[in-house]
Amino acid sequence: MAQVMHSALSPVPITVTVNGTTYHHAVEPRMLLVYYLREGLGLVGTHIGCDTTSCGACTVLLNGLAVKSCTVLAAQADGAEILTVEGLARNGQLHPIQEAFWLEHGLQCGFCTPGMMLTALQVLQRNPDPSDPEIRRGLEGNLCRCTGYQHIVKAVRRAAREMRFPSSPARAD
Ligand code: FES
Ligand code: FES
Repeated sequence: MAQVMHSALSPVPITVTVNGTTYHHAVEPRMLLVYYLREGLGLVGTHIGCDTTSCGACTVLLNGLAVKSCTVLAAQADGAEILTVEGLARNGQLHPIQEAFWLEHGLQCGFCTPGMMLTALQVLQRNPDPSDPEIRRGLEGNLCRCTGYQHIVKAVRRAAREMRFPSSPARAD
């Protein structure tokens, strides 16, 4: 079992499946999930914006639920399945949400984008055809400091359409 961090406290053994790959590690009890993902696994697509549960840049799906990974201990994720932005594309093919953010200019600096996309995935899994107000409500825990919200909403609307009625043999999950 690999050890991710050293500290005076006894490491806690965890097993997590991240983007389909299972990892066994021993982590510092106080290590936040976002640091485990970034520093332990090298998945730096999960961003750290505020570290205080405010911005949503660190959002990942934990057992299918969007969580702010700066608010979850890595030890609490033991046994969980986690999806990060790196797991959205499969076999070299962008997820429809990624494609829609690109086509609708849903990113400016891109800092909020990974968290936005994972929250959008949860929104669309719960409601495949949301209205614009429903999209905005679903994304309200994610802040975009570039304030490009209109393009983000358009991107989620486009992704919803594409996931329901794929125009190409694209993935719709
Ligand atoms: S870094 Fe987690 S909510 Fe801002
Ligand atoms: S695109 Fe820059 S923070 Fe959202």
